[in-house]
Amino acid sequence: AALLILAGLLGYLLGSVPFGVVITRAMGLGDLRKIGSGNIGATNVLRTGNKPAALATLLLDALKGGIAVLIARLAIGEDAAQIAGLCAFFGHLFPVWLGFRGGKGVATFFGTLLFLAWPVGLLACAVWLAMAAVFRISSLAALVAALAAPLIAALTGHGHVAVLCAVMALLIVLRHHANIRRLLSGTEPRIGRK
Ligand code: G3P
Repeated sequence: AALLILAGLLGYLLGSVPFGVVITRAMGLGDLRKIGSGNIGATNVLRTGNKPAALATLLLDALKGGIAVLIARLAIGEDAAQIAGLCAFFGHLFPVWLGFRGGKGVATFFGTLLFLAWPVGLLACAVWLAMAAVFRISSLAALVAALAAPLIAALTGHGHVAVLCAVMALLIVLRHHANIRRLLSGTEPRIGRK
């Protein structure tokens, strides 16, 4: 049990690093919380107009979840890997460094999932990409992909991650309440626009 708590703590600490905030500040792009949606994720970093910064945010926010899974798996085992991944996701949503006011968890969700059960992760990414290609709205793509993920997991024989996916998907939906309101009123901006 102590090892599982350790895995959770490691995941949380990794997940709570707000790469979007760190990168935009380091590159002199301003205070991310005062730009666009105010969110700390890659979609909002893209609204600064700096594509490399957005890409770096996407990759690092995803990788922190993946690395947490990988370390816990190698050091302890699969149960610990799941706990570390979930806690990394919580870390991104509730980072101690930002007064627990974190992001929406989409990149970290994908990174965690890719390392927990890569076929599920790849399919979920494919759903995001397909939705983004058609509608060009990041939040819509994220919502559809997040809701699809537990189903994908259950249908592809990855039942062990389906519940985890469902918990993360639920939190992703809750975190997108403002986006959902904008989607319903037709005012949600397209990818790369303010
Ligand atoms: O990953 C977050 C994305 O789904 C929405 O971001 O900045 O448009 O609220 P944003």
